[in-house]
Amino acid sequence: MRKESAAQLVNEYKELMTCPICNSDMDVVELRSIVCKNNHMFDFAKQGYVNMLTRSVKSNYDKALFAARHEIIMKTHLYEPLHKRIMEIIGDDLEKHRKDYPAILDAGSGEGSHLTQIIDESNDSLIGVGVDLSKEGIRMAASKYHQAIWLVADLANIPVKDSTFHVILNILSPANYKEFKRVLSDFGLILKVVPGPNYLKELREAVFGSSEKKTYTNAETVSLFKEEFPMVNIENITYTKRLEQAELRNLMEMSPLSWSIDDRSKEELWNQESFEITIDLDILVGKQR
Ligand SMILES: C[S@@+](CC[C@H](N)C(=O)[O-])C[C@H]1O[C@@H](n2cnc3c(N)ncnc32)[C@H](O)[C@@H]1O
Ligand SMILES: [Zn+2]
Repeated sequence: MRKESAAQLVNEYKELMTCPICNSDMDVVELRSIVCKNNHMFDFAKQGYVNMLTRSVKSNYDKALFAARHEIIMKTHLYEPLHKRIMEIIGDDLEKHRKDYPAILDAGSGEGSHLTQIIDESNDSLIGVGVDLSKEGIRMAASKYHQAIWLVADLANIPVKDSTFHVILNILSPANYKEFKRVLSDFGLILKVVPGPNYLKELREAVFGSSEKKTYTNAETVSLFKEEFPMVNIENITYTKRLEQAELRNLMEMSPLSWSIDDRSKEELWNQESFEITIDLDILVGKQR
């Protein structure tokens, strides 16, 4: 049963977890719930995730968006070069700081495909934990991917202990550096992936036309990251891929960009038979020390 196997996995790694309410240690009871010393209890959902939010939040991201991201990542393989490079960076780092079972946290994991690809193809035995505010995203991740731990939680209050994670991934998602520093281990590595100026530029042009909104810079995000992690290395990864119609439609569904598109341009784009798209991403690689 999915719920029980997920609970078993959490039980194995319960030392990583902390109560989001009182910060005490957590235990797994009857392969059903996670409970802390003060009896704060969080149940496993039947899909195998745990909702550890302490307040209710509304997410802009819905099921259709996550389903489209899943297709684009797992079937179109749009981010394959990114995954490969991330794996190399992690592999090189783990060689220097060998750990038995390094823990990797995907902060803002969405529907979990990036983390899964990276864990699956890595030569190291990694234990993955995916955290996202969106229940839809985490539910999808937990039902599809059984080798990682999936938690609905806020990056402002990540229910894991101090200094426990060797790697944090933060792909196209907001960051909380105070929390990231808290949970990273001594020689921990953080990889934040942010769009470069040409990321999805063809889609951006279709949405905003020639208006000024289409120019985008990540300078502010990069300088904030540098303030928090001065030992930073920035790598750019740029490539293009031609998408077939169904893939283009998924791309439109998966990107918050198309929330601002007008109906006419949307229809025009929707009916294109194929479409070339640019991926331009910066990988900000920081070290705890
Ligand atoms: C553009 S999506 C990227 C998701 C995934 N990394 C990917 O690339 O497919 C941004 C994600 O950040 C999540 N997010 C936003 N604010 C968050 C917060 N405070 N805590 C946890 N997740 C958050 C959203 O729910 C959403 O899944
Ligand atoms: Zn508690």
